[in-house]
Amino acid sequence: MIIRNIHWIIMITSLISIVKPEEKPVDKKLILDRYNEYRRSFARQLNVSNMWELEWDENLVERGIQMTSSYDRTNSDSEDFIHLVQGSDCRFFFTDTANKTLEKEDWFFIKYPSFEMANMSLKDDWKGPQQLYSSHIEAIYPSQKKIGCISYLIAAYGGQSKLQTFDAFCLVGPHGFAESRASIKFGPPGTDCTDGHGDDGLCVLGPGPQTLAPFKWDGDDEEGGTKKKKKKKKDENDEEYDLVLILTNAVRGSGISVVFGLLIMVFYWID
Ligand SMILES: *[C@@H]1O[C@H](CO)[C@@H](O)[C@H](O)[C@H]1NC(C)=O
Ligand SMILES: *[C@@H]1O[C@H](CO)[C@@H](O)[C@H](O)[C@H]1NC(C)=O
Ligand SMILES: *[C@@H]1O[C@H](CO)[C@@H](O)[C@H](O)[C@H]1NC(C)=O
Repeated sequence: MIIRNIHWIIMITSLISIVKPEEKPVDKKLILDRYNEYRRSFARQLNVSNMWELEWDENLVERGIQMTSSYDRTNSDSEDFIHLVQGSDCRFFFTDTANKTLEKEDWFFIKYPSFEMANMSLKDDWKGPQQLYSSHIEAIYPSQKKIGCISYLIAAYGGQSKLQTFDAFCLVGPHGFAESRASIKFGPPGTDCTDGHGDDGLCVLGPGPQTLAPFKWDGDDEEGGTKKKKKKKKDENDEEYDLVLILTNAVRGSGISVVFGLLIMVFYWID
């Protein structure tokens, strides 16, 4: 019996690995932190009003895997990357997650931010090795909202004829070349966020915290949860009200449904 189970497990495991080859994970948090920090700094220094916070997107990850399916991404000497083609609804770049401080990226994003320089450095088409040195600039276009990266090793001489190493291939979307370049807006950071709101200089999806639906207290009609609440004795519930209030304030940018969800949770907990 045990042996049969083990067989099953082995079979299933090997089936899974046939269908989906093991993908070396990338440091998602490092990438999101790095580029959102760069974007925030860029927006503040150049007064960009529509700089979106990048969110991780598994579709872009999948896209990256498909685009490079015939390439050897684990051999840093491979020159497969020369044949990449930029998308019409996303742009790609290479970075190094093993190195926590990238001089050239800090230089461009923090020390000398400039869209003119970005425009000069990157053209529509992928130029191969010579573009490795500046490809990270793709991460700065304000209207891009999503990013997805996969593991990809490169060690190549490009640009400044220094050996450069990369371990991640990233796609940013949803815009291609023309649209990402044309949609730069200037003004106080985080003030031009269609379908979103400003948060510390960047745009994030959803209504801002100030537009949260007002919280309903005792005596406010309808909803089952409110009626049930009335049956309870006041003093007994005071602490839970506080908890709900704290949780409600903590959940930024969410709607009334979250508030009622929390209320219901608390009542089940009391019962
Ligand atoms: C950004 O805006 C501030 C405040 O209006 C202004 O002082 C500063 O010069 C602006 N910077 C740039 C690069 O436009
Ligand atoms: C990290 O990058 C900097 C320059 O960007 C370089 O001087 C340094 O040697 C790199 N460190 C490693 C461990 O590769
Ligand atoms: C960058 O290039 C795009 C089109 O290629 C243009 O619309 C935009 O104005 C340029 N921006 C700057 C700052 O030069």
